[in-house]
Amino acid sequence: MSLNDKIAQELNHFLKIINYKDSAQPDESLNDEDKKKSISLMRVNASGEVSAQALYRGQAFFSKTPKVKEHLIKAGDEEFVHLEWCTKRLEELGGKKSILDPLYYAGSFTLGSIAGLIGDGTSLGFVEETEKQVVEHLKRHLNEMSPNDKKSREILEKMLEEEEMHGQEAKDHGSTELPGPVKGVMTATSKIMTTLSRYI
Ligand SMILES: [Fe+2]
Ligand SMILES: [Fe+2]
Repeated sequence: MSLNDKIAQELNHFLKIINYKDSAQPDESLNDEDKKKSISLMRVNASGEVSAQALYRGQAFFSKTPKVKEHLIKAGDEEFVHLEWCTKRLEELGGKKSILDPLYYAGSFTLGSIAGLIGDGTSLGFVEETEKQVVEHLKRHLNEMSPNDKKSREILEKMLEEEEMHGQEAKDHGSTELPGPVKGVMTATSKIMTTLSRYI
């Protein structure tokens, strides 16, 4: 595939992700307070999946070994399934996706590209650390979310399981551990994103 085709493919993917919508029957089983909380948490998670998607695509774009590239694309596709779950649940709850999603996608794709350019080991180390942070974040969400919202909880639990697997797979493919300060920057960045997506 030519470089132009590859870029066109990535632009199409970007449009597919940021325009992704679903229609769902409204869920009237929760009280207003629980619903409001779940909407803000599920919006954060949908944004997280948009970012995960873009990170993997950026990394895959610049990955040097076909095996790693293939793995990154496959993992990215699994993040798309997570995005489908979160988007559908948001629709059921009557919430909207974050207006910042296009920005998150662009930023994450750039970050993923940098990691990919540095090399496959670092790139996989980046996946491992991201997934580890996502798992911790999902655990916090499960603590915060109302026990009444069984449907959202089920989604988060399933995602948690799969993100743990993604981290392990990155390790198995030969990840290099990232330096402490890089991990710190990643934590700080995700903190900003998750806070913003709660509201907009
Ligand atoms: Fe995910
Ligand atoms: Fe993941």
